Amino acid sequence: MIFFLVILIFSFSIWYFTYKYLKTSFEISSTFLKIYSLIFWVSIFFRNFYYLQYDFTKTPIFIALLQLDAFLLALIAYFHIIILIFIIYEKISRKLITTNSPNYFKDKRKGRRLFLGLSSLSPLITIISNYKITVPKTKIVKIVDDKYPKDIQSLKIGQLTDIHIGPTLKRDFLEKVCKQLMNEKPDIIFITGDIVDGKVQYLKDDLKPFEMLKAKYGVFLVDGNHEYYWNINEWRDFYKKSPNIKMLNNENQTINIGGKNILIAGVTDYRAHRFDEKFRSSPTKAVYSTLKHDYKILLAHRPKSCDEASRVGFNLQVSGHTHGGQSFPFNFIVGLVQPYLSGLYKHKGMNLYVSNGTGFWGPRMRLGIPAEVTIINVSNS
Ligand SMILES: [Fe+2]
Repeated sequence: MIFFLVILIFSFSIWYFTYKYLKTSFEISSTFLKIYSLIFWVSIFFRNFYYLQYDFTKTPIFIALLQLDAFLLALIAYFHIIILIFIIYEKISRKLITTNSPNYFKDKRKGRRLFLGLSSLSPLITIISNYKITVPKTKIVKIVDDKYPKDIQSLKIGQLTDIHIGPTLKRDFLEKVCKQLMNEKPDIIFITGDIVDGKVQYLKDDLKPFEMLKAKYGVFLVDGNHEYYWNINEWRDFYKKSPNIKMLNNENQTINIGGKNILIAGVTDYRAHRFDEKFRSSPTKAVYSTLKHDYKILLAHRPKSCDEASRVGFNLQVSGHTHGGQSFPFNFIVGLVQPYLSGLYKHKGMNLYVSNGTGFWGPRMRLGIPAEVTIINVSNS
């Protein structure tokens, strides 16, 4: 409820200031403003029907409308980015431009023309951003780690993360990415959270393609924050019944490669305790074992688990959550709160890989930050 209230206040503020700015600064026509307001509020409200999870949200017409809605949300988002750039340009130009320089903001007609020209770019940017949004590329990452046992073969990890099966991505998308991953023949598979946006009863059929995931050392999964939004207990029960996927909730399993013990551990979401203290994420618990290990790998949805993970002796952490910022220019904003945003990092001696995510969330936006199916090759040299 609080989440919806925050979204509503946030949306209203954006709409109100944009409407007022366009009306007063350039005397934009009321028809334009009405169309803008209609697209804005329809796209914001329509999406909420999905979150109510009624049966009709499974009908093909509703699914098609959700796809359109995700497109309109992207259009609205890029439109606001252009306005923001325009406001910044206006503020700077008012300060810097001399009396002899052209000032678009003194002549409202000239300003309006410039604004309409620039804002007409937003549909084009949205179309470009949509191109390949559901075709993740296979990204190969090479990690050379002197802590990895010398005399054993390298480990080929396949990772899927932040798939967000739900309002816009369905079974066909999951089938495609699972096949893409299996074509790479990974030794072990990690699924690192935010797999779904919806309840088990509505999405269990969409997750059927997970059954094709098979690897020599197993398939492991951890939850992300979105699993908690949709009844984490039901999702835990769902994965418990899986014949091929092992969910790791602050626990681990040992795999043996060429006589060396490799620890595969997984934690609950970094903020899971906000839902219930019993779900609290703990790399300390996850690393505990009576066996001695030669290399330790952690599956953690959020990169922020890295502090505790490195402290308790993990050598590699595999994460997602950030979507790499999902689309330019949001990567700069997300980067302010997520120092480990995308790619391979070194954190206090531990390797940390952060995926851009396999699917997307919210608006259909992925400009300059491609979705990925990830292959991580870990070796000593
Ligand atoms: Fe997440």
